[in-house]
Amino acid sequence: MWKGRFQTETSNLVQRYGESISYDWRLYAYDIEGSIAHAAALVDAGILTKAEEKAIIRGLREIKREIEAGEFRFKTSLEDVHMNIERALTEKIGAPGAKLHTARSRNDQVALDIRLYCRAESQAIFQRLTTLQNALLTLAINHPEAVVPGYTHLQRGQPVLFAHHLLAYLEMLERDKQRIRDCYQRINVMPLGSGALAGSTIVLNRKIVAEKLGFPALTQNSMDAVSDRDFVAELLFVIAMAGVHLSRLSEDVILWATAEFGFIELSDAHTTGSSLMPQKKNPDVAELTRGKTGRLIGNLVSLLTTIKGLPMTYNRDLQEDKEPLFDSIDQIKLALEVFAEMMAAAKIRENRTLEATSDPFLLATDLADYLVLKGVPFRDAHEVMGKLTAYSLTEKRNFPDLTLEEYKQFSRAFEPDLFKVLDLKTALKARKAIGAPSPANVGSQITRWQKRLHAASAM
Ligand code: ARG
Repeated sequence: MWKGRFQTETSNLVQRYGESISYDWRLYAYDIEGSIAHAAALVDAGILTKAEEKAIIRGLREIKREIEAGEFRFKTSLEDVHMNIERALTEKIGAPGAKLHTARSRNDQVALDIRLYCRAESQAIFQRLTTLQNALLTLAINHPEAVVPGYTHLQRGQPVLFAHHLLAYLEMLERDKQRIRDCYQRINVMPLGSGALAGSTIVLNRKIVAEKLGFPALTQNSMDAVSDRDFVAELLFVIAMAGVHLSRLSEDVILWATAEFGFIELSDAHTTGSSLMPQKKNPDVAELTRGKTGRLIGNLVSLLTTIKGLPMTYNRDLQEDKEPLFDSIDQIKLALEVFAEMMAAAKIRENRTLEATSDPFLLATDLADYLVLKGVPFRDAHEVMGKLTAYSLTEKRNFPDLTLEEYKQFSRAFEPDLFKVLDLKTALKARKAIGAPSPANVGSQITRWQKRLHAASAM
């Protein structure tokens, strides 16, 4: 492509080192779409005739068909997807093909291709986030009365509805969706026409290109446009954050699936056995997701590190944006899909969750609150309940089995109605401030999510 200035061929080693066709071939459909829009602007500027444009479109469509049929031979010597397609086009249709690159550089071309790719993939990720939300919501709806201990420090804290725990993940995934939607606005800006870095003396109507490709806005600085990868970094962050959420869900699932917790039974289809220990049923999907999150975070850091030292404007370093981007997108889409499938097929073992939640110590705070309502300052009530917990442990008798007289030794504020507090249903029902897990609240949250997910399936 640059044969004019050079006397010797690029060394084989350099070709192997610098090629990106082995991975950026995936951008072919966007590259072709972008070239068709660019051709329209060239017609408008009087560089191409209508007939030449037609030939270009026909040639590009043929190339697309060949690629999709597996008949196209990508050449490493042609470095990347842009040059492979352009060369093939010129071989097919001659002169019009050789005119296509007028007033365009691979620098603005690749910026456009990545934006088109990120645009499509953001939608795909958004939809999969919704699918997982729906799977978790269905699980909540199917177990409206299941209770679990809520944990802090992985120590049993207070009782909650299992649905409340699941809905916490819907909130996290909803924030991921908000972030994608927000990031999309900065992806959705059209860079073509920026040329290598300074536009072109052949002036194109960039609005034609933007309109053809459905971009609502144009980049406003040609130097920024060819070197900006902020939108890629943002998308990688959004993906890493969603990955972190999935990783935390993975950790919950892994714990729940242990014999010690036993809260959940994953289906055979979503677990694996051990080659050595015949009794094992391993939650590999969750473990892999937790593991792959390291990659998602790594990909974000990798791109930020690539960008941080770059002088203006385009530098070849930027070719290193694609592999982390492709990897994160592939991985998060798969992770979201497999998680939705796995959670939809999971069984909740309500007898086990109830057993764990029947630990009377989970209501120690409720008894402290009881004392507060009898006029005891909270700090004193907290101390009383701490001492009662120690007493109950040495006596080896649970809260419901202690007598009123014993309670009174710790605080005179205790009365016979204290025993009513020691009921799981009462305890849950009482937690009715906004955001708290009373059954009525959780019920209306479920309704809210049903409406919301039903109304907003597209981004
Ligand atoms: N393959 C290159 C990339 O991915 C395309 C742009 C190359 N531009 C250049 N001037 N060498 O970044």
